[in-house]
Amino acid sequence: MKNMLVTGGYGFIGTNFIQYLLEESDYGGRIINVDNLTYAANPQNLAHLARRFSDRYVFIHANICSRETMAEVFDRFHIDTICHFAAESHVDRSIVQPDAFMHTNILGTFTLLELARERKARIELFHHISTDEVFGSLGDEGYFDEQTAYKPNSPYSASKAASDHLVRAYHTTYGIPVTISTCSNNYGPYQFPEKLIPLMIINARDYKPLPVYGDGRNVRDWLFVLDHCTAIWRIMKQGKRGETYAIGGNNELENIALVEMICDIVDERKRETARGPRQELITFVADRPGHDRRYAIDATKIRTHLNWKPMESFQTGIRKTVTWYLENRQWIDHIQSGEYQRWIETNYTRRGEV
Ligand code: NAD
Ligand code: TYD
Repeated sequence: MKNMLVTGGYGFIGTNFIQYLLEESDYGGRIINVDNLTYAANPQNLAHLARRFSDRYVFIHANICSRETMAEVFDRFHIDTICHFAAESHVDRSIVQPDAFMHTNILGTFTLLELARERKARIELFHHISTDEVFGSLGDEGYFDEQTAYKPNSPYSASKAASDHLVRAYHTTYGIPVTISTCSNNYGPYQFPEKLIPLMIINARDYKPLPVYGDGRNVRDWLFVLDHCTAIWRIMKQGKRGETYAIGGNNELENIALVEMICDIVDERKRETARGPRQELITFVADRPGHDRRYAIDATKIRTHLNWKPMESFQTGIRKTVTWYLENRQWIDHIQSGEYQRWIETNYTRRGEV
């Protein structure tokens, strides 16, 4: 794995993964980060590493759907390994405007697979990052694992499911060496503040309403982003080619309990005596259409086959995360000043009608 193409490296997980590979892991090769800088990307995330690792890190501004440009990238940098994060990733956006999800998540993945097929002799691995949302929704009992049937419910999860099927098919039909990981909800530094945890931290900080969808009893299984990065790297190094690994944090929480916890931590850190406890900001709003009730992962396979387990407990991970968002105000202000603000204004107020 001398020349690794990382797609979507300026997004939340891609940023954390590139930092992990360069600063903490035993990876010694070169990283070529391809990102087309959508609203979710932030080039500042890796500015410090780009300088420190200038011989091992390159950024290319390109769209993964562009076959010609991506062919140039594959050949100019002698790509032998692909770690594919680039995607449209927000369920709410996929409900309002699904088009980009189909282009990037399905056609973008197809484009990369075709380029890998044409250069099969030198491709060591195509690792595809997917999500547990492809399995649909659980009731009160049970877990998703590698045998669970696909039953995606949102345009986002349906597009990710399509991409998973393509990756699997390219292994079976063409013998491309692939691995796939399906992981649960990530949280941690650099997550775009339209996702639940950063949105709640920032709104709580500013004493703004905390919009909880439906009855707030939906359950997510939270995984600290660095634990996700160690799992991906473990799979890339030791995972069996052609196989899928489910990655989970073993941290199931109802949304309402999580939001209350965030309120209490922000109160501890930024108490303003004139104002009441931040839990008073919680506002129940119209439910997301097709809202999956519960996600939970059984990570036995990656634990027993690859000896991986998450290191961060939710108690420590959420505190680190709150601290990061409170200390990185500029990062948030930069995002909130642009197009994102307009999206929130036009779409969040219309949520009930979608
Ligand atoms: P993100 O939205 O924060 O970042 C996505 C990145 O991909 C952005 O930098 C964006 O500019 C880039 N991108 C989008 N379209 C592109 C295109 N056509 N060409 C090149 N770059 C493009 O997403 P994330 O949360 O970091 O998620 C990364 C991957 O992990 C996705 O595939 C997502 O489906 C998967 N995943 C995420 C979670 C989670 O909780 N965040 C959970 C499970 C799986
Ligand atoms: P999200 O972070 O969008 O991740 P996903 O939909 O991929 O699981 O949402 C996590 C949970 O939080 C999900 O059940 C929807 C809920 N949610 C809210 O209640 N309010 C919000 O403002 C957002 C963004 C999400």
